[in-house]
Amino acid sequence: MGRRTTITLIKCDVGSLPGHHVVPKILLDISRKRLNQAKKEDLINSYYVFHAGDDLELLMTHDKGENSPEIHSLAWDTFLEATEKAKKLKLYGAGQDMLKDAFSGNVRGLGPGVAEMEIEEREADPIVVLAADKTSQGALNLPLFRIFADPFNTAGLVLEPTMMEGFKFEVLDQKERSRAVLKCPEEMYELIALIGSTERYVISHVWRAVDDLICVATSTTKLSMIAGRYVGKDDPVAIIRIQHGLPALGEVLAPFLHSYFVEGWMRGSHWAPIMPVSLKDSRCTLFDGPPRLLALGFQVTEGEIVSDEDGNPLIYDLFDDPAFDLARRECVEYASIIRRMGEFEPARLPESYMEYTALSKVLEKLKGRFHPV
Ligand code: F6R
Ligand code: MG
Ligand code: MG
Repeated sequence: MGRRTTITLIKCDVGSLPGHHVVPKILLDISRKRLNQAKKEDLINSYYVFHAGDDLELLMTHDKGENSPEIHSLAWDTFLEATEKAKKLKLYGAGQDMLKDAFSGNVRGLGPGVAEMEIEEREADPIVVLAADKTSQGALNLPLFRIFADPFNTAGLVLEPTMMEGFKFEVLDQKERSRAVLKCPEEMYELIALIGSTERYVISHVWRAVDDLICVATSTTKLSMIAGRYVGKDDPVAIIRIQHGLPALGEVLAPFLHSYFVEGWMRGSHWAPIMPVSLKDSRCTLFDGPPRLLALGFQVTEGEIVSDEDGNPLIYDLFDDPAFDLARRECVEYASIIRRMGEFEPARLPESYMEYTALSKVLEKLKGRFHPV
């Protein structure tokens, strides 16, 4: 039996500048200080703080298991301290995702997004983390499907005997708040039928079918459902285990050869091409976008993110690579095409998907002006 280690990624928009652009260094530093202290106190084993656009991201490894009140309260307290600073500086949207006041042991349902996975460490355990800004949970359905179920993406599905047995996908119905597990390749068509509806069905976990090895955990917070109104997009994150009987690093990155369309962008109300970017370009600009996606790679050994001699975690910025220039260029081209349509569908999301709409006010204003035909 290998060592049991938990990888936790908790994220929150606590304020940014200018507008919903980036988390300033001052908030990253507050978070680093807190997590460093928690490491000294042996609450966590290692950490890495970064930002995906206006979302502050806390990546941690520890021995407390999933949904640990101690770890969740560490993240909550860190976000609270960063929020206080953001409020003092009047940063934009200070405390935006801190939707509830009372913390009771778990940040789920309070606003911050969580992806967590307790693993039994293999001989070597390489991991990829994906983190998006200005888009919704369903934005990761397409690449996760391609990575774990599409043999045109993942050669291992036809060349690696353990992977040939397939993968099990947990799908969350965000409307009914229910879940189902579907197995590929046998139930591939049913899976696509569901997760193709990205606004409703979201992949929350993936396991390897042959031995139920956990390989994916995603965040599934729907902010508008907690807040009862639009408060910003959910900006999903995912933890993906790779290699040795799982998709290889290159198979995880292969779906990002091309851009594709996701919900989000300006006011969370448009179809948008997604752009794979490096940490340096993790900041939304044009029409509050286009939505950006980061991919960070690292390995976990003896409970820690493998680090250098000085204790700095070795984190690799995987989209910092010319191999993704084509997707970035396609993204800008798609953006220029779809923005020509302004607020006409399909540039704008259909009414039922929209988080933000003045339509009820328009109808109110025009009350009495519609006559039977
Ligand atoms: C998208 C997003 C932004 C805002 C837009 C308006 O997730 O957060 O596109 O919706 O910048 O923001 P407010 O209403 O804060 O001026
Ligand atoms: Mg924001
Ligand atoms: Mg955001």
